[in-house]
Amino acid sequence: MKITQMRVNHVEKPLGFQITPASFSWKVQENGTAKKQKYAQIRVYKGTELIFDSGAQESADSLDYCAELALSPRTRYRWTVEVTGDNGETALGESWFETGKMDEAWSGKWITPDLDSSIQPALRKTFTLEKKTDNARLYLCALGVYECYINGKKVGKEYLAPGYHSYDFHLQAQTYDVAEYLKEGTNELVIWIGDGWFRGRLGFDGGYTNLYGNKAYAIGELYVDEVLTVCTDETWQCKSSPAVFSNIYDGEIYDARLEDALTSGEDWKGVTAEAPDRCGSLCDRYSLPIVKKETFTPTEILHTPKDEIVLNFGQNLTGWVEFDCCIPEGFQIRLTASEIMQDGCFYHENLRTAKTEYTYISSGKAAHARPHFTFYGFQYMKVEYLNEAGEILSNSGETESWRPDLRTFAAYHLRSDFDQIGTIVTGVEKVNQLFSNALWGQKDNFLDVPTDCPQRDERLGWTGDAQVFSETACYNMFVPAFYRKYLWDMRAEQSILGGSVPNVVPRLKEGMVAEHGSCPWGDAGVVIPWNTYLHYGSKTLLRECYPGMKAWVDCQRKKDEAVEGPHLVKDGFHFADWLALDNDQPGPFGATDPLYIASAYYYRCAKSVAEAAAVLGYEEDAGEYAGLARDILKAIQDKYFDEEGLCTSKTQTGSALAIAFGLNPEKAEKGAEGKALRTRVEANANHLNTGFVGTTILCPALTGSGSNDTAVTLLLNEDFPSWLYCVNLGATTIWERWNSVLPDGHISPEGMNSLNHYSYGSIAAWMYGSLGGLRPLKPGFRKAVIEPHADRRLGSFSCELDTSAGLYKSAWRYQEDGSVMYEIEVPFNAEAELILNGETRILEAGRYVF
Ligand code: BGC
Repeated sequence: MKITQMRVNHVEKPLGFQITPASFSWKVQENGTAKKQKYAQIRVYKGTELIFDSGAQESADSLDYCAELALSPRTRYRWTVEVTGDNGETALGESWFETGKMDEAWSGKWITPDLDSSIQPALRKTFTLEKKTDNARLYLCALGVYECYINGKKVGKEYLAPGYHSYDFHLQAQTYDVAEYLKEGTNELVIWIGDGWFRGRLGFDGGYTNLYGNKAYAIGELYVDEVLTVCTDETWQCKSSPAVFSNIYDGEIYDARLEDALTSGEDWKGVTAEAPDRCGSLCDRYSLPIVKKETFTPTEILHTPKDEIVLNFGQNLTGWVEFDCCIPEGFQIRLTASEIMQDGCFYHENLRTAKTEYTYISSGKAAHARPHFTFYGFQYMKVEYLNEAGEILSNSGETESWRPDLRTFAAYHLRSDFDQIGTIVTGVEKVNQLFSNALWGQKDNFLDVPTDCPQRDERLGWTGDAQVFSETACYNMFVPAFYRKYLWDMRAEQSILGGSVPNVVPRLKEGMVAEHGSCPWGDAGVVIPWNTYLHYGSKTLLRECYPGMKAWVDCQRKKDEAVEGPHLVKDGFHFADWLALDNDQPGPFGATDPLYIASAYYYRCAKSVAEAAAVLGYEEDAGEYAGLARDILKAIQDKYFDEEGLCTSKTQTGSALAIAFGLNPEKAEKGAEGKALRTRVEANANHLNTGFVGTTILCPALTGSGSNDTAVTLLLNEDFPSWLYCVNLGATTIWERWNSVLPDGHISPEGMNSLNHYSYGSIAAWMYGSLGGLRPLKPGFRKAVIEPHADRRLGSFSCELDTSAGLYKSAWRYQEDGSVMYEIEVPFNAEAELILNGETRILEAGRYVF
């Protein structure tokens, strides 16, 4: 037995993260004969002092062992877990976590540069160390986004720190181990600050600036050998950083000619001690760092009919492009990002007002160029060369000194630092591409906040998109820590909205995006924490999220009870089945009654709150919300179901909701709603016409009501509207609309066409949960149900899921004789209920072939 993946609050070796409450988790890799964990014992040490010992406990849960610890700030703790298997074998694992500043007061002061507020500053401090150290920590936060350099070297591997969070309520400080950057003698610490989300342009329709603050700020403390050695104060200096312009949408202008000025002692200005006045207080980070996860080199270098040079990276990705160059001083290289070419030429009008450029102005020296304070959603990059007067130089003719070697250009994919845990491979290549597109939809849109899209003038934490995709997200990647941070922001926003959940989190405070309480956007407040619990099994995290879950339902209830009548959602604006195709009226709204959808979600949320309360031992709440859920259900059945017990919203989404949420009254004939749904799909030439709500549940509802064949037909359709229609047109991510690109390759004239919107990627959850049949029966997959649904048209299917409880596999393959071979794997200390051909059997840890 071997212990792996030892985590605290879902992060391995967390440095400076928010630790309380501390949830410990680990995995056991088993090659021997043990099937289950008999005992586990967790110990925590501060130095050599044992500060916590759980004792050998049968109940110690490897998914979530919550320990009450009295922790000190800025302290490294060692922890061990010793697991005894049911065969008597033992294994010991050891790891650490380290606290940040916790509640400790800051000696560093917030400072802001004495420069015109439009300037993106570099703040600096020099100091002397008597000797080299191997113990140094830097505690730091700067607003908008920052990079810190010590003696010319960038500190740490993360970018765009401190990330995007609800600045009004809290500011996340980062902790860095900086010993390796320090030296004996004079040292220099420099912080570059870009506008970022904090004060840069944000929001569509032109957007807003200075939403959270209007100046650049920094606060920091450097401890060397545990002694406070440097902190931010009035003795710091500043000047413009070489990143002379940046924001999230428009990109960055980097003037390398300013680099030298940064290393000279001249012309530094002072700073003022002043705290950001519209922000919450500092705390240890929740956010996973944003890091480089993958690299792409151009698959093609295109020279277009319009004399443009365009690099194709072969994958629509989030991140940026870096390159080497040595061009004359003042000459410029300008990159512009795009998702798609049109008629063989560069095109990026679907990014609306976002300029998505990167301009590098050369100092004349050889350099490696990259953006610092922006990111792009792109597959293509146009490369332009400009002279010192800013005139574009022709791409035709001889190789000139201003043209760098395009082969050094590489695209880096940036996202929050979590890893993939799910994979699916089928016998149909296009379906595999679709799965890859859904994965990329998540990779590209999980950059600190789950965003709608990563490219145009939006990139916001739209709660509806996040909600409908959350189940798929939990299958694909290990995201409890990522969601923990998003839900922490969400609860903060809810606290001033009477429990209501905003359309976007963090909330933009102006315009339509500032609104809240729309279904199924607001339902993210319950659906995401509940899915997170089901998939990763952390009661500690559920407990942390519970107040937000309850607040959302209470807010709905308050509105509901303000109007006489049974418990239903009775009014309000609801996006509902956004972008569905079933409405005769033009526009983005689907045909399914929004108040039916909203009431269905109200029921689902009340039920989840009741279930969460029961899990957490809040019995009174459990009873109360179960009662509320029953009342809502009854009211829905009375209002939205006919005498035969069938849904009166006669759309695909209407029926799918009834089936997926269990809304039909008892009097409904068994399978009748399923039949109605199937008939409705057939009547639509076996095609879907659903939007954000319906698409997520359509295939699960079909499979769940005995029509898996119809669900597979929808999966395999290749003409509009279908998933493979997009694949056939070269999609490497999921599109916002079913026809964001027309069959002739032109972008749809209808507008609002992101080619990287993950919502319809929610089909992947059905692939795992229905084709593979792998679903959590007990939270965190301690027990799974495996109910595979084979279909000859796919030939074979295999999914592997590295759950919190260990690695599961569910695979099937059609044999030559027409029979189906199933291959199942269940991890150590877990069990599965296998349902094959209507027969159920219990499988303990092991590998099986049927
Ligand atoms: C976004 C969405 C979002 C929707 C709601 C769009 O502009 O990109 O995905 O949920 O607005 O109105």
